[in-house]
Amino acid sequence: MSDPVLRTENLTVRFGGLLAVNDVSLECGRGQLTGLTGPNGAGKTTFIDAVTGFLPNNASGRVVLEDDDVFGRAPHVLSHDGLTRTWQTLELFDDISVRSNLEVASRRLTLAGAFKDYFRPARTDERVDEVIDLLDLGPIADRQPRELSQGQRKMVGVGRALVSSTTKILLLDEPAAGLDKAETQWFGQQLRRLIDEGYTMLLIDHDMGLVLSVCDQIHMLVFGKLVASGSPHEMRNNPEVIAAYLGHSGGGE
Ligand SMILES: Nc1ncnc2c1ncn2[C@@H]1O[C@H](COP(=O)(O)OP(=O)(O)OP(=O)(O)O)[C@@H](O)[C@H]1O
Ligand SMILES: [Mg+2]
Repeated sequence: MSDPVLRTENLTVRFGGLLAVNDVSLECGRGQLTGLTGPNGAGKTTFIDAVTGFLPNNASGRVVLEDDDVFGRAPHVLSHDGLTRTWQTLELFDDISVRSNLEVASRRLTLAGAFKDYFRPARTDERVDEVIDLLDLGPIADRQPRELSQGQRKMVGVGRALVSSTTKILLLDEPAAGLDKAETQWFGQQLRRLIDEGYTMLLIDHDMGLVLSVCDQIHMLVFGKLVASGSPHEMRNNPEVIAAYLGHSGGGE
């Protein structure tokens, strides 16, 4: 790939005797939606945890952000460097507005940033407005998350990630979990809109249908090991993918 925003080389995570991520090297191309899929327990969340610096005692390998080897940096430093993630369990404040949820996320920066914001709050508010426009949250900006559909709530979660840093790549951990088919489809279209705006993303999901329909490139983990990589067309015809999703393990320890 000519211009990856994020690259891992031989990324490995061990929990005692368990090899949760096994020597994974992959790239996320600039302006692309890259998918990381695989069955439950395959190591997808652990992969993101390692990339974003949450497993300093368990991970080894290299993580390269643009041209910078960032492996070993702390999560808050990586977030500031432009690695932005969401969490598998969506957490929103249910009794304040959507706009306030974004504002709170945008101010959860460094102490220095908060100090600057105190004197120049307009910049933060501008970014919140930008994200509201970008994700089409305008019509629901003054409503509380508890009044929203599950799909809208998930999109607010994406918004919270986008306001919180100078994002170079957005890593989404199963953002469509719990959505019905129509909401999943709508959510996928929203992600494509972000790509059209120039964002780079890594989408984790074990819903092969979603990943195949929205991603440019897809990687599949089974028991921590990368067993298949390719375009949606290539993945549809890959025997490892077919085997894993028919319930026969295509790899592993
Ligand atoms: N902190 C931890 N300590 C020990 N084992 C862990 C830890 N975190 C994850 N694991 C194990 O690592 C493996 C990979 O888990 P992980 O949560 O990354 O899978 P996943 O692909 O995200 O699954 P899901 O689709 O269910 O979210 C599993 O066997 C899990 O039990
Ligand atoms: Mg997971």
